Amino acid sequence: MKLSANDHSSWNISRRFFGDLVPFRLALLLGIGLQLIGVGLELAQPWAMQQIFDRALIGRASNAAQIVYVGSACLAAAVLLRIVVNHVATLKIVATGHALTRALRLRVFRHLVELPPNFHTRQKSGDLLMRLMGDAPMVSTMLVEASSHLVTRAIQVVGTVALMVWVDLRLTLTLAIFLPIIFFVARFLAGKLRIATRKQRRKEGDMADYMQESLGAAALIQSLGREGDAVRAFAKTNRRNARAGLKTARAAARLSSSVEGLLAIALGITVLLGGLRVLQPAADFSAGELIVFISYVRGLMKPIRSAAKHQARVAKGTACGERLLRVLDEDRPVRLTSGKKVPVSAPVCLAYERVSYAYPGAERALRHVSFEVRAGDYVALFGASGAGKSTLAALALRLMDPDQGRVTLDGVELPEYDLDRLRERFALSMQSTMLFGASVAENLQLGDPEAEEPAMWRALEDAGAAEMVRELPGGLEYRLGASGSALSGGQRKRICLARAFLRKSPILIADEPFNGLDAHASARVEASLRQHAADGGMVIVVTHDAGSLHSFDRVLFLDGGRLIGAGTDRELRGTAIAYQHMVEVAEGSRA
Ligand SMILES: Nc1ncnc2c1ncn2[C@@H]1O[C@H](COP(=O)(O)OP(=O)(O)O)[C@@H](O)[C@H]1O
Ligand SMILES: [Mg+2]
Repeated sequence: MKLSANDHSSWNISRRFFGDLVPFRLALLLGIGLQLIGVGLELAQPWAMQQIFDRALIGRASNAAQIVYVGSACLAAAVLLRIVVNHVATLKIVATGHALTRALRLRVFRHLVELPPNFHTRQKSGDLLMRLMGDAPMVSTMLVEASSHLVTRAIQVVGTVALMVWVDLRLTLTLAIFLPIIFFVARFLAGKLRIATRKQRRKEGDMADYMQESLGAAALIQSLGREGDAVRAFAKTNRRNARAGLKTARAAARLSSSVEGLLAIALGITVLLGGLRVLQPAADFSAGELIVFISYVRGLMKPIRSAAKHQARVAKGTACGERLLRVLDEDRPVRLTSGKKVPVSAPVCLAYERVSYAYPGAERALRHVSFEVRAGDYVALFGASGAGKSTLAALALRLMDPDQGRVTLDGVELPEYDLDRLRERFALSMQSTMLFGASVAENLQLGDPEAEEPAMWRALEDAGAAEMVRELPGGLEYRLGASGSALSGGQRKRICLARAFLRKSPILIADEPFNGLDAHASARVEASLRQHAADGGMVIVVTHDAGSLHSFDRVLFLDGGRLIGAGTDRELRGTAIAYQHMVEVAEGSRA
């Protein structure tokens, strides 16, 4: 069930998160129960006051002093007990809120991690960060704190009104007209607040995006001398964000002030009408009763004020919940269509059959591509930049699925395999190097969490990176900067290759492995890749470097998303004109 256009009520948004609340339902019920006990104690207080007033102070009963003693002791005990109960209730509810926030963040993060790569290229990461960090606690506040308070406050209002009826029906009926007015005013203003909050959160997301992008490219901005522009642009989103924040605060203040104003009027009317009745000669209404009544009307202020405050939280939580749902409603098509079969540990044939693929909103990246790679093959995917080579590699690992045609492993279409087991059969070293701000060893262990040091050194050796890592301070324990900064492009590439080697997967796909490598390191990497094929693996090397093509068993030549030639380098040079042309251009530019 997805969010439709007219589905923005707090209830509809909240409902979508009820499943997340289930594990915490007992803690939440306990919290609400304790709050209700607190409400009961609070409602008993004015009644004790009335007894003291009417019986002892005004009525001068024979045991007046005794009533004062006992009454005041009861009052103090009730107040103390209420404080303790509320304290425990608050702790319980706050703890539940934190637990729910944690669960929500985990759910959103898990979902984000599994979304296809083109979602992440589309979506700005700063805004996603805000959703995870900022929106999740707001939703949890709405579901736990605000909802539990609203429940207890509603019961408190009903209880108070019942007691007012019991004390005096006539006066209660006079005041009753205020309740619907307060209700509708609060609802109307809460709607406004929700709209303002939605806008504010969007502005905050924009700001986080801008900050993330510009700080990530700080070196570029400095090299172009554009720091001033960057700061000015930031100042603009900053200003917009502050303005939106102010609007939200104003809407929240308007809500609580209006409600309190209405209550103040109600209180004035109570004092006026009640006072006049006490003064009448044959009064049916005692001063003590008036005091009780007034304290109940004043007692209404607290729950209604608190309801207004929590209504504001619900409005914020709703706006934030919408943002989370927008992420959670993104399909994970690949994960959802995962089958149960397990690929054999040494697959024999990877085949593309008339495969076409277009990135959402873009031209076709691949058109009817067919080829197969067998165990022991050492194959190059060759083509100009933008030809679709990396896209072909991504389809093999099911980072996305083809729009038409199919990719099979040993004759079975990829979606029929269990996704995790399928991916275990592949090692991909991507074109853009992906490293984390952790130690070299931790980055390598992403390839194989169980890998020990000797295996890691062997993999580094194979990637021509052992020498370089040995020279880093701390060796394997050297901590890379964010995304592996502080290493050169070639160094990063080789660590990524080592990570792929470490996986010991039968199918190895290396996307532009020689980019940024010197001749010596290139030769080392080439020998390792060849060895992997000779050992019975499949090796697919994506390259746009014409100079290395002669060493492959087979070259697949891609142009504009089509496969227009397959064969050895020599055969292709003899037959495919476009290939000849491209190789000549490449060789000419090198000469
Ligand atoms: N995430 C993406 N979103 C939209 N278009 C993309 C994306 N990635 C690649 N493309 C487009 O798909 C085509 C093939 O890209 P790619 O497979 O990366 O080419 P190659 O690796 O051969 O340089 C290109 O035209 C490129 O612009
Ligand atoms: Mg590429």
